[in-house]
Amino acid sequence: MKTRITELFGIQHPIIQGGMHFVGFAELAAAVSNAGALGIITGLTQRTPADLAREIRRCRDLTDKPFGVNLTFLPTVASPDYPGYIRAIIEGGVKIVETAGNNPQKWMPALHEAGIKVIHKCTSVRHSLKAEAIGCDAVSVDGFECGGHPGEDDVPNFILLPRAAEELKIPFVASGGMADGRSLVAAMALGADGMNMGTRFMATKEAPIHDNVKQAIVAASELDTRLVMRPLRNTERVLRNAAVDRLLEKERELGASIKFEDIIEQVAGVYPKIMKEGAMDAGAWSCGMVAGLIRDVPSCRELVDRIMAQAESIIRQRLAGSLAG
Ligand SMILES: Cc1cc2nc3c(=O)[nH]c(=O)nc-3n(C[C@H](O)[C@H](O)[C@H](O)COP(=O)(O)O)c2cc1C
Repeated sequence: MKTRITELFGIQHPIIQGGMHFVGFAELAAAVSNAGALGIITGLTQRTPADLAREIRRCRDLTDKPFGVNLTFLPTVASPDYPGYIRAIIEGGVKIVETAGNNPQKWMPALHEAGIKVIHKCTSVRHSLKAEAIGCDAVSVDGFECGGHPGEDDVPNFILLPRAAEELKIPFVASGGMADGRSLVAAMALGADGMNMGTRFMATKEAPIHDNVKQAIVAASELDTRLVMRPLRNTERVLRNAAVDRLLEKERELGASIKFEDIIEQVAGVYPKIMKEGAMDAGAWSCGMVAGLIRDVPSCRELVDRIMAQAESIIRQRLAGSLAG
């Protein structure tokens, strides 16, 4: 399939694997890229820029296809060494960066000078237009369904994507709730040039996470996610578990007076325990409503091939066929 996104990134299929904390290691990024889609290493999961440089080299050993690095700009007090991470990306010869969180404007000149294409993840049309205005090459439009941080506007993709298509000139992919060939065709019908998936890529053979996490996703239905940290305006969609229930109870008890410190136990430093050790109740971890559509743990190649075959059959048979009569 050829779209503005496959052309921009030099990939075979218009599918991207979004950055995921403690999931987006070289093994997953390379497996996704080897399947003809775009794999992405999660920059901040690497503790230092030197660790990221090593992870980029590891990924290059595993694939000769294009892959990217995610850089999430967090509103934290102690800021990570962003200049160092950007140097590691440039010196590592990576040509695609997925930015997320705060506006990446400050870093655009350095990235573009190095010939790097930037795709910024946005949860609203206004942020997407801002990304276009500051020179981003593409955006990933992340609807309310998404795993991770859906923002505070709560607009689902059936509205958000056609709105983005009405306003944007640069290419964009649909993100949030995407799982299969149906998602891809629907996203393209709504104006997107491809799709970005997070949760679906966690439940793959190559995702370097504990099998308990993959099985939890397979077992979950579309009713099993919850929104946490809404009172802190840092909303995150997570899979419901005992820790999430405790967190939500605290949010109800403390109301508007809640502070980050009140819920620190459920959200800070929990990812390694969950993703590496499989301690499923250790805290809150991002997961999309799309878990309700995920029923198996295929290899990345099986998944991508299946998506593309299903998309083609929907377009050629179901859609074209419905015109025939
Ligand atoms: C476990 C997990 C961790 C994530 N971590 C990050 C992250 O560190 N940075 C980021 O930009 N997005 C992160 N995301 C969001 C994904 O990149 C992607 O936008 C999102 O999962 C899309 O929604 P979906 O899960 O419905 O496919 C994360 C998502 C998940 C499920």
